[in-house]
Amino acid sequence: MSNRQDIVEVPLAQAYRLMGFGPVIMVSTTDGSTPDASTVAWARPCAKEPPTFSLNVGTGHRTYKNLAKTGMLCINVPTREFVDTVMYCGRVSGNDVDKVREREIEIRYGNVLRDLPLLDDCVAWLECRVVPWTIERGTSMIRAEAVAASCVEGVLTEQYAWNVARFQTLHHLGGSQFMVSGDVLDMG
Ligand SMILES: Cc1cc2nc3c(=O)[nH]c(=O)nc-3n(C[C@H](O)[C@H](O)[C@H](O)COP(=O)(O)O)c2cc1C
Repeated sequence: MSNRQDIVEVPLAQAYRLMGFGPVIMVSTTDGSTPDASTVAWARPCAKEPPTFSLNVGTGHRTYKNLAKTGMLCINVPTREFVDTVMYCGRVSGNDVDKVREREIEIRYGNVLRDLPLLDDCVAWLECRVVPWTIERGTSMIRAEAVAASCVEGVLTEQYAWNVARFQTLHHLGGSQFMVSGDVLDMG
């Protein structure tokens, strides 16, 4: 169990800043007793107020079963240091393996959603309740509303922009390839 002191709350109005720039995310869920973590590249913000996100999750995945059961998920944003776990959680299913136990992934629980597992080695977290979703051809379009947002101190600048120099995120190119976040052009 974590006792990190370096985590700050993010105002919900700015929650979209934690993943609006397209990083690969990890979705953590629970069936009520066993936590699961899965990699998701197809995810994006879709409303600012309330902060809402849409994610495509295969209906055969453990993640889908868990969120259908509990109505909640956490969007965790990893950095490049976590890439091995990102790949592992994207290749192995919680239907077959307790990934969190197998990989010794550090978990802590939500500030608002107290039973929701968060992945402690990521650097930003959106605790979400899922709202009614649609299924098309085996893939669900999940809508998730954030009820709490937090990140490691320094992840967001004073202007609420992601600090890509210090916290390099992963951007999926396909297969086993990722681009790592880099240059920022400020056109202001
Ligand atoms: C880089 C990467 C991105 C992925 N993106 C998605 C995605 O957007 N949606 C999805 O349903 N599965 C995606 N997957 C596949 C799931 O992470 C994978 O099927 C996983 O085993 C599901 O785990 P679960 O059964 O424990 O939920 C991705 C895998 C990788 C490696």
